[in-house]
Amino acid sequence: QLKDNTIVIVFGASGDLAKKKTYPALFGLYRNGYLPKDIHIVGYARTKMDDAEYHKRTTGYIKNPDNDPEVTAKIEEFKKLSTYVSGGYEDAPSFQNLTKHLESIEANYKGGDVNRIFYLALPPSVFVPVGKHVRDNCYSSKGVNRIIIEKPFGKDLDSCRELLSSLKQSWTEDETFRIDHYLGKEMVKNILVLRFANVAMGSAWDKNSVSNVQITFKEPFGTEGRGGYFDEFGMIRDVLQNHLLQVLSILTMERPVSFASEDIRDEKVKVLRCIPPIERKDTLLGQYVAANGKPGYLDDDTVPKDSVCPTFAATTLWINNERWEGVPFILKAGKALNEAKVEIRVQFKDVAQGIFKDVSRNELVMRIQPSEAVYLKMNTKTPGLNFRAIPTEMDLTYKRRFTDTKIPEAYEALILDALKGDHSNFVRDDELDVAWKIFTPILHWIDGKDGPRPKPAPYPYGSRGPKELDAYIAKLGYKRSAEEYSWPTTSMS
Ligand code: BG6
Repeated sequence: QLKDNTIVIVFGASGDLAKKKTYPALFGLYRNGYLPKDIHIVGYARTKMDDAEYHKRTTGYIKNPDNDPEVTAKIEEFKKLSTYVSGGYEDAPSFQNLTKHLESIEANYKGGDVNRIFYLALPPSVFVPVGKHVRDNCYSSKGVNRIIIEKPFGKDLDSCRELLSSLKQSWTEDETFRIDHYLGKEMVKNILVLRFANVAMGSAWDKNSVSNVQITFKEPFGTEGRGGYFDEFGMIRDVLQNHLLQVLSILTMERPVSFASEDIRDEKVKVLRCIPPIERKDTLLGQYVAANGKPGYLDDDTVPKDSVCPTFAATTLWINNERWEGVPFILKAGKALNEAKVEIRVQFKDVAQGIFKDVSRNELVMRIQPSEAVYLKMNTKTPGLNFRAIPTEMDLTYKRRFTDTKIPEAYEALILDALKGDHSNFVRDDELDVAWKIFTPILHWIDGKDGPRPKPAPYPYGSRGPKELDAYIAKLGYKRSAEEYSWPTTSMS
């Protein structure tokens, strides 16, 4: 962990990502004493604003629902260590000016190294010039320099390679921290422990026991104002190619030699390399339409009227290795659905027929959000004078089991890792390369590069997705519970 003499410089300080995620996470770390003692934060963006306006923007999303005076006091302290510089993203003098500001803060250091952590909360169009200008003009000559960047890392294999190689001219892999914020989520980090610290789990983790796996992302709201960005990227690039694929790789990789970041990432890359490019026939696309008083995707003013951009996508990945051959991994994600939920659902095979017929399959569910939980659906004898098996669950709901623990925000965990120099939960260059190899052909088809663009199936705002979805999943072997099964409502609270 970097100790003293550290400045975090947030580029894009007036933007959405910075105010909603980066600053609240920095504050969370500060409040809990995780930041270096004399940390400074410097915001940088094009917008001209005074310190008061800067502080208003960067603390506006910090949660303090009960107006706790202790939190209010901490926010005031936090403001004092945070200053702002405005400037362009493409001209050297602006960056030299920023360096002068950094040096004026560093002039108060009592000797030792000078560490600078550059956080690029920026649109992809300026990643490369900012990366270069920072390296040329703002690099600390004694101490640690790190650069944190956020997706999108390109739009396909070629553009990703181009972006990576441009940035590599200025920054080494060791200095680079590519965020996929799903890797900072508690339940995603828990997969490693669940799998490798439990013999019972580990031995059922292959094609002999598992029938199919679903990794599902559902959001109950549409693009609402973000249509401009979204329409250029679509659901697959926004969520499947990064967040869900990251989850899949940890779920399916072999046991790493150690917890060292390169050992973990080596295993992730290895399993991803066993996945052939996705096929069109394995892909179901959807786009939401107006329903229940809510607007359709095409009603969003920031979206072109004839857009065929998918706001829902389900697709199946196959892993051609000894462990997983023949097991479908269904990734599905959608906006404007009926609920907010991200979960992994591992469905096991049927038990041997004979003494039991039509009993439900075991399912292991890891709920990433909301309300983290792990539960195993299993059959139990109906209590009483009855021998029938009924589906029940073994339930580990975090809120009940870990009552005193506050689960950190994904960004808090990741920024802390970057300060420590731990790359385990960041995306390595070759991981990105192989991820794009899997998705690029299907994306080019959707983009209309090989012919007419496919039309997504419409689904009503607030529904479960396109009506074709149930048949799609059933065809891949997913079986609903034999009995009507519903999660007891008390478990959710
Ligand atoms: C982002 C996507 O990466 O992840 C958004 O661009 C999406 O479209 C978001 O809403 C979801 O993140 P979370 O942490 O709210 O699940």
